[in-house]
Amino acid sequence: MGNSHITIHNKEFRPYFSAVQLDEVVTSLAARLSADYAGHKPLFVVVLTGGFMFASDLLKRFVGDCEIVFIRVASYEGTDSTGVVQEILGLREEVQDRHLIIVEDIVDTGTTMHHLMPTLLAKGPASVEIAALFFKPASLRHELSVRYVAMEIPNDFVVGYGLDYDGLGRNLPDVYVAV
Ligand code: IMP
Repeated sequence: MGNSHITIHNKEFRPYFSAVQLDEVVTSLAARLSADYAGHKPLFVVVLTGGFMFASDLLKRFVGDCEIVFIRVASYEGTDSTGVVQEILGLREEVQDRHLIIVEDIVDTGTTMHHLMPTLLAKGPASVEIAALFFKPASLRHELSVRYVAMEIPNDFVVGYGLDYDGLGRNLPDVYVAV
């Protein structure tokens, strides 16, 4: 990918992870998942939009029977004590007694997953784990266990390989970081 900086919406980014490096970490995460879920026919729940490219590469390398569903999450302020109500759009599959693996582009503050978990758990799955391309531990603001992480990164803003900066950059095959 070279050393060239790129500009998106007047913000400068430098190369961070090449497509080759991403391929390596995604391949090894897929091998872990294939071993851990052998014989369990998991249901991968891919969170759109950012997770699409990671999910595509990860699931091509998953060995064994599995199902795949794409969801969107919509949060709005509720009137209950937790404040936020999480609605899951697109989950038509039966999840009761299934082994679920949420596929996310990045866990940053953990807020999205913190609200999604109880909504999924209420549907009675056998298990729920999170598989994230990137995890920013220093940013985490909630009690959350992210068992499957392709790469831990510092608290920097990244773009490319599905992740966007204000709508742009998702199509880039490499990942860039804000300078
Ligand atoms: P969280 O709820 O704070 O964990 O953030 C989750 C969502 O924020 C991710 O699914 C991304 O869409 C977005 N996000 C967080 N950090 C980044 C980043 O560095 N680049 C692009 N999007 C990000």
